[in-house]
Parts: sequence; C-alpha cells; structure tokens
Amino acid sequence: MLTEQQDLAVRGGPRAVPEGQVHPWPQIEEQDKAAVLRVLDRGVLWGGGAPEVTALQEEWAAAVGSRYCLATNSGTAALHMAVAAAGVEPGDEVITTPLSWTSSATSILHHNAIPIFADIDPLTFNIDPQRVAERISPRTRAILPVHLYGLAADMDPILALAERHRLKVIEDCCQAHAARYRGRTVGALGHLGASSFNGNKNLPGGEGGALVTDDEHLWQEAARVHQFGERRRADGDREYNAYGMGWMYRTTEMTAAFTRSQLTRLEAVTAHIRANAHYLNRHLRGIPGLRPPAEPPERRHVFFRYVPQFVPEEVGLDRPPGPATERIRRALQAEGVQLGRAEFVIPGMTLFTERRGYGKGCPWTCQYGQPIAYGAEDYPQAVHAIDTIIPIRGLTPPNGEAVMAGYVRAFEKVFGQLERVLA
Ligand SMILES: Cc1ncc(COP(=O)(O)O)c(C=O)c1O
Repeated sequence: MLTEQQDLAVRGGPRAVPEGQVHPWPQIEEQDKAAVLRVLDRGVLWGGGAPEVTALQEEWAAAVGSRYCLATNSGTAALHMAVAAAGVEPGDEVITTPLSWTSSATSILHHNAIPIFADIDPLTFNIDPQRVAERISPRTRAILPVHLYGLAADMDPILALAERHRLKVIEDCCQAHAARYRGRTVGALGHLGASSFNGNKNLPGGEGGALVTDDEHLWQEAARVHQFGERRRADGDREYNAYGMGWMYRTTEMTAAFTRSQLTRLEAVTAHIRANAHYLNRHLRGIPGLRPPAEPPERRHVFFRYVPQFVPEEVGLDRPPGPATERIRRALQAEGVQLGRAEFVIPGMTLFTERRGYGKGCPWTCQYGQPIAYGAEDYPQAVHAIDTIIPIRGLTPPNGEAVMAGYVRAFEKVFGQLERVLA
C-alpha cells in the first residue's frame, strides 16, 4: 500500500517540489535595471557604434577569447551572418546536426545553401565527427556543429576534417555560453561562433546574440550582412554603399546594457548551475532506467539544460520508448520538475520533408539541382535521443539544494513506480 507521501502527483498525490519553490529565469537585479535606466538617461538608443553595443562587443569578445565581435538582434541572425561570412554560396552544402533548434539548419537555407545532416553521438547528443566525415562531398563548404544543451561538440576531429578538406567551421554556441573544450571557450575554436542572448539562455538579454571571429576578413564579411550590405571603415564613418546583400541585424542599446549587466554574473551563474547539475548526477546515478548526462573530462558542460536519459532496456521495456518517455516527463512535471524543450529532429520538419523553402522548390531546385530527400528516419540516433531524453530547467540561481533535493525526490518517486507511470 502506498503512503500518501509516496503517491504520484500525476495521480493526485502531493508534489515532490512544492508549488512556487522553483524561481523563474532570468533573475533581474537592481544592477540590471540601473543599466537600462542609464541608457534612457543618456538618450542614445540605437546605432552600430553606440556605447553599450560597442562595449558589449568588446566584453563578449574578451569573454570568449576572440578578436572580433558583432552584437546582433538574435542568435539566428548571428548564425546567418556566420554562414555568409564563411563564403557559403547558393547551392553549396553545409553539414550540421539533425538534433537542434531549427535555426541551426535554417541559417544555412537563409543563404540559399543546402543543409546536409550528420547523425549524433548517442552519449553526448552532439554531431558525430565520424558521420560528418561520411557526408563530406565536393560541394561541402562548411561544418556547423552545435554545442547542444551546453556541452561542447567533439571539436578536435571536426577541426581536423575541416583543415583536411579546407572547410570553414561555424560553431552554434547558442546554448553554450562559457562552455569549454580542452580549456578553450566555445566560439573561439572554429572560424566563426554564434551565440544567442534570448531571455531563457544562461546569458539572457531578452532577445539578442553575437558573432565572434579571430579573422578580420570574416568579420568584414559578417559585418556586411549585419548592416545593409555596408563594409566597416576603420574611422567608424559609414559610406552607405551596399557592397553586397545585407540585412539589418543590429541590436539596441537597452538590450546591450541589460546583457552587459548579466554578463558580469555569467561565471557565477555557470558555477551555480554546474554545482546543481553535479548534485543531481550524484543523486540520480544508480536509479534503474535513468542515465545522467555525459560530461567528458576535456569539456566544461554549462548545462543550459540538464538532460538525463530514459534507458528502456534497463527496465525491460520492449515497446517504442517515445510514448513511455512522454508519460515519465508528464509525471515529473506534475511533481514540480521544470521541463525544457527536447529540441527537434530537424530533417523531419515539414520545411525539409516537403522542401518548402522560398517557393518553387528553392533553394533545392534552383541552386542545387540534384535530388535530395529528408526524413527523420535517416537519423536513428537523433530520433532515439528525442524519444528518451528528459531536458530539465530550474538549475539556475537562486535555486539551490532545496530545489535539487525536490527534483531528486521526484525522480525517485516516478522511477520507483514506473509500472504505474507507464500503465
Ligand atoms: C541551438 C540553437 N541555435 C540557434 C538558436 C537561435 O537563437 P535565437 O532564438 O536567439 O535566434 C537557438 C535558440 O534557442 C538555439 O537553441
């Protein structure tokens, strides 16, 4: 007989994590408000060379360890700028991961290039360098790895492939602020890096992002796309001539000021999240049917999401795991655990299965001119990940051990009564 304390919240029992205990993200402090007010008092609200934007670019470049930075109004914009700057032209192929947020692939389509997907490593959920090697063709121009959920992709073999085939490497760092690989911060490992400062990220700015690079030529190319096709002059003056296609991807002063203020706390935030993640690792390890997230020793995981995985074979489940995982997720949510988005198998999205780009089948029919078909089923590891992962939020400050202990209780309750959860 179950005591009331043990009964599942999803079946009407008490929650493992009391209502209201998990604080939302982002945290907005007095210094953040003062930063925005300073902008309003100054009265300068916009402009590529405006003081807050300029300072954010300098500070983010320094934080990543890159020479150049362009602040943008989204991570998607930064990714598109990076694809363009890499010299990717219509009909060229860019290899990326099937498991990510849509923009990792649509940023390639934005420049009329063709996303080619390479399946993931089942333990890290990041693109598998071996699969990348198999997808390289004479039309490949770049590789676009994503550091998913806050863990760096395995960059050494990717960089080696790129060097051998003279390809550019564009890092999608949108979920991985301050993540490291062999001691170096992501974004500074490849030729170009793109970050998002969307409000739910570890570095929240409301909306926003940034491109980084060490290469002056790539910076100039990215700058063209950033602002109306113009090039940047050393004296800061604008010529107002469009040297090529450009968009308007600048950010605003208030956003830049807010992001700068949050940036002063990024290292503390990262340490806090990591301590919570390691607490969960210690306490969830050993629960049958659950695998805590991998953190290879050469990488600093920043846990944008804490992503344990349901291991159906450990509990003798011989049905397809997707519906079972969904029931587990719902049961955990009912206990008060905050869940994040699992992301998507992008080549299974209608945009790709029906090749709905710009109309008339473009860019596939216009600029590519060779048959290509997409479907999620070609990426079994990505599909398995989507069907088994449990992405968790709420490790952000000020949530500490009290919340994490509640999360552990929730996992123990749900996995302790898996038969009832899955019934
Ligand atoms: C992996 C990844 N790439 C790109 C983006 C796009 O960033 P933004 O929403 O700032 O355009 C996101 C945002 O969630 C992301 O998670």
